Amino acid sequence: MAEVVIVENAEAAGALVAAEIVGLIDARPDAVLGLATGSTPLPVYQALRTRLAGRDVSRVRGFALDEYVGLDPAHPESYRSVITRDVVEPLGLDPRRIHVPDGAQETIRHAGSDYEAAIDAAGGVDLQILGIGTDGHIGFNEPGSSFASRTRVKTLTAQTREDNARFFDSIDDVPMHCITQGLGTILRARHLVLLAFGEGKAQAVADAVEGPLSAILPGSAIQLHPHATVVVDEAAASRLALSDYYRYTFANKPSWQGI
Ligand code: F6R
Repeated sequence: MAEVVIVENAEAAGALVAAEIVGLIDARPDAVLGLATGSTPLPVYQALRTRLAGRDVSRVRGFALDEYVGLDPAHPESYRSVITRDVVEPLGLDPRRIHVPDGAQETIRHAGSDYEAAIDAAGGVDLQILGIGTDGHIGFNEPGSSFASRTRVKTLTAQTREDNARFFDSIDDVPMHCITQGLGTILRARHLVLLAFGEGKAQAVADAVEGPLSAILPGSAIQLHPHATVVVDEAAASRLALSDYYRYTFANKPSWQGI
């Protein structure tokens, strides 16, 4: 099962995950990071600003999880723009090494297989940062997604469009379709780190960590991964049946082990 780490707040989660990423980059300067967008990973990117300052990150590579289909990449809420603004520029990464799925309508038929080929050519993702939707999606793999799925076009649920309306002027502006790494793509990353904060994510976290393995609970795919870490605050951990055990195991973890 995934290792669950219950932290005091999002800032502590950011510090913990950033430390792991810095260790990875120190060991492997051309590390391949799997980058999530949305609000959840922001504390990680924030913590990385100070921790990576002064380090040579010119060889770090990255792959975003997803992109909206048909949204101009120059739109401030395209994931290309978000990744540039929140990750590439503040961390000083080389934009040519940071990939985002191509949501252009004209090339969408082969954009998924192109993206899979690019991940393969990079040797796969070393550490994949994940958030989770209130409906349980990871990436934009909405309920019903196959555990074997690869990068492809998906239709966003009404719930996800409502959740993401906060980034747009109105819900009508939230695209209907996205291109997302599949659950099978995500499972090929060497380390999964899923973060979640707040009561609104508690059920999705419980389903992902302790629920039955089911396509209706896309987050439950992480149970199939040999190295998955779930970092949550108390509110997001509030529906976990085994929360005392997770606290106990983390408190007694050998100091030489990272997350
Ligand atoms: C983002 C992504 C999504 C989000 C999820 C949670 O690249 O793939 O799975 O992680 O929708 O979004 P936030 O963090 O905004 O609550």
